[in-house]
Amino acid sequence: MTNIVTLGVDGTFITPEKPTLPVIVGDGIGPDLWRATRPVLEAAIDRSGHAPVTWLEVPAGLKAKEERGSFLPPETLDALREHRISLKGPLNTPVGEGVRSLNVAIRRELDLYACLRPVKWIPGSPSPVRHPEKMDMIIFRENTEDVYAGLEWPAASPETNQLINFAREKLGATIRPHSAVGLKPMSEFSSKRLIRLALKWALAKKAPNLTLVHKGNIMKFTEGAFRTWGYELARDEFGNQTIPESEATAASSKLIIKDRIADNMFMQTLLRPDEYSVLAMPNLNGDYLSDALAAQIGGLGLAPGANVGDGLAIFEATHGTAPRYAGQDKANPGSLILSGALMLEFLGWGEAADLVRVAVAETIGTKIVTYDLARQMENITPVSTTTFGQAVTERIRKKN
Ligand code: NAI
Repeated sequence: MTNIVTLGVDGTFITPEKPTLPVIVGDGIGPDLWRATRPVLEAAIDRSGHAPVTWLEVPAGLKAKEERGSFLPPETLDALREHRISLKGPLNTPVGEGVRSLNVAIRRELDLYACLRPVKWIPGSPSPVRHPEKMDMIIFRENTEDVYAGLEWPAASPETNQLINFAREKLGATIRPHSAVGLKPMSEFSSKRLIRLALKWALAKKAPNLTLVHKGNIMKFTEGAFRTWGYELARDEFGNQTIPESEATAASSKLIIKDRIADNMFMQTLLRPDEYSVLAMPNLNGDYLSDALAAQIGGLGLAPGANVGDGLAIFEATHGTAPRYAGQDKANPGSLILSGALMLEFLGWGEAADLVRVAVAETIGTKIVTYDLARQMENITPVSTTTFGQAVTERIRKKN
């Protein structure tokens, strides 16, 4: 019998009884976090009546470079592709090694076109806002295009000079000489596949609304088109189940499609967070908004994430390698643990996912927290990464 996650005809994941799941432990604080996370996930899987998972540790990052001569060995990419669902710790971006970013390389190679960031406050965790309980959103950020496509050239380079000349001669556009220039590609294909994923999620979760976040007032043909394509897709492919905000009434039971200009959206998330549920947006907007929302629920140490493509998903902590705390058993494993919970949900093991989330919430609720949360609270002595993981694991084991 196979132990590999497969795909159903509708594109959903089919989980075997005893799946094998690749894990990239990661650099910096990665090993500390994984040591704390693994028992939590195993306890929840066991407690919810599933057979144990086999973790397949695959090399990437500094250790892979030392041991195999490559930051991202091809066999690692093969394993991630073959097994479809994986968990990943943070990876150091090698400076001056000719590698732009390992994370970007993984996303590109596997065409993980959507970055998912659920943002929900855990009672007891410190927050800089007065009503963090009103926040329950999930961001779907386009991962492959926009100004992040890597299409930019330095000032005064031959490429830039050619572009500036082309713009002047063929397009009648004036660009100041010696400017650096970047391109912002946004396609209907990539925008729609991202929005489609967000729409399917919103419908499956019975979310009340989906908001397209864009700067279409200024960038009409890129961000403005993102908005247009979003409404178009909702109407053409999900017309029976969705309704644009302009047509919705208080009695509407359909998923309401809204759009907001990005700067307004930042304000909305602070002033009226309970009016928003699923958010779909281009790359740059998503990058900014993801961290801004994470801050409202206690910071990056508690924000889970996933990078998702068609039939493939990698669940990962949203923070970096925090080199200052590497090997000190100090960092918060919450983000990796909650990313693991999201992974369990994708595997169809919702009960196990809930066990993890409830146990994390209860642990934080009893003020067992790592340094990053403790310093935002009063008179709390922080616990180690290991102790936090153990506290969560014990709670899961004791659940009826
Ligand atoms: P970072 O996320 O590592 O650190 C930012 C701040 O948050 C630091 O003060 C750090 O100590 C703190 N922090 C991060 N994770 C924490 C945790 N779990 N518990 C408690 N505190 C935590 O970002 P930075 O410093 O910009 O990047 C460091 C390295 O990580 C770089 O090489 C960068 O390329 C890489 N990185 C990797 C990412 C990934 O693998 N997905 C994402 C972001 C950065």
